[in-house]
Amino acid sequence: KYAQSAQSGPLRDRIAYHGKHQLLSVDQFTRESVEDLFRIADQMQPIARRQKVSRVLEGAVLGNLFFEASTRTRVSFGAAFCRLGGSVCDTTGFTFSSMAKGESIYDTSRVMSGYVDAMVIRHPEKGSVAEFAQATNIPVVNGGDGPGEHPSQALLDLYTILTEFSRLGKLLDGAHIALVGDLKYGRTVHSLIKLLALYRGLKFTLIAPHGLEMPEYILEETGKHGHTIIQSSSLEEGLVGADVIYATRVQKERFAAEELEGYTPDFQVNKAIIDKCCGPDVIVMHPLPRDSREGAHDLSVDLNHDTRLAIFRQTDNGIPVRMAIFAVLLGVEGLVQHSLRDV
Ligand code: CP
Repeated sequence: KYAQSAQSGPLRDRIAYHGKHQLLSVDQFTRESVEDLFRIADQMQPIARRQKVSRVLEGAVLGNLFFEASTRTRVSFGAAFCRLGGSVCDTTGFTFSSMAKGESIYDTSRVMSGYVDAMVIRHPEKGSVAEFAQATNIPVVNGGDGPGEHPSQALLDLYTILTEFSRLGKLLDGAHIALVGDLKYGRTVHSLIKLLALYRGLKFTLIAPHGLEMPEYILEETGKHGHTIIQSSSLEEGLVGADVIYATRVQKERFAAEELEGYTPDFQVNKAIIDKCCGPDVIVMHPLPRDSREGAHDLSVDLNHDTRLAIFRQTDNGIPVRMAIFAVLLGVEGLVQHSLRDV
């Protein structure tokens, strides 16, 4: 499943962000370090499924600070910390934090550092989580900063792709990845394409409506790694021969409604188009939430019972991957195996 690792030394030092044990961007990873993290995530699987119990983080407290809506990221980070024996304190939304009274990011971060051992932060502004991180020396994890990055989502997405490919007997090097939807504001695809670019000889087909294309700086960065990048506004053409289809929701909360005009049902990933364009081994992914409201067109529910749909295996993988992130950042990954006991 993974290449041989020739790197040595603590993983948290190898992925450090400006010398700190924090996770702000996927740029902190090499192919070797990301696969070293996934080896730890594999070890976490029995604990994530509660077949085994570990309490390596007993006594530790996580501060989960979410200033933007979230279900998966907030709850799975919290559950991951609890699965390792720690406890979680949450604050959700500006209304219920003292930022509503004008408190700065710097003061909030400094105060929280005295209360908890690690923080996960989601904030609507790009770069804001890095500002939290600068103000503290405790581990900070970026749970999504506006249209910036969502590194833990990209890590669990890549982990899912490697796990699915291993099951199918396929290699990621040389694969065809189709990213569909709002590639401009969707932070998950920004992080994922950078992580995937660590592999070799990939073909990326980027299928987006006019105005919601992948930002130029990410295309340039990905192109430097020698991958093939094709941009298309036709779902039917773009999906032909894809090994992975990664659909995304239109981030309506991040732009004016007029910009949405180009987004039509033609961009919906559904069973008919998958049957027409792809083989039986294609994997259909989505970071979720998918938009189930009238007029939303990201991923159809008609694939719900299709084994090619990997979205719930993907969400399940959020727990072991986030457990691995905590274990590494808090320096306890070497203690996990010895700490295991039966349920
Ligand atoms: N994928 C994701 O970030 O989901 P939430 O917004 O529910 O956390």
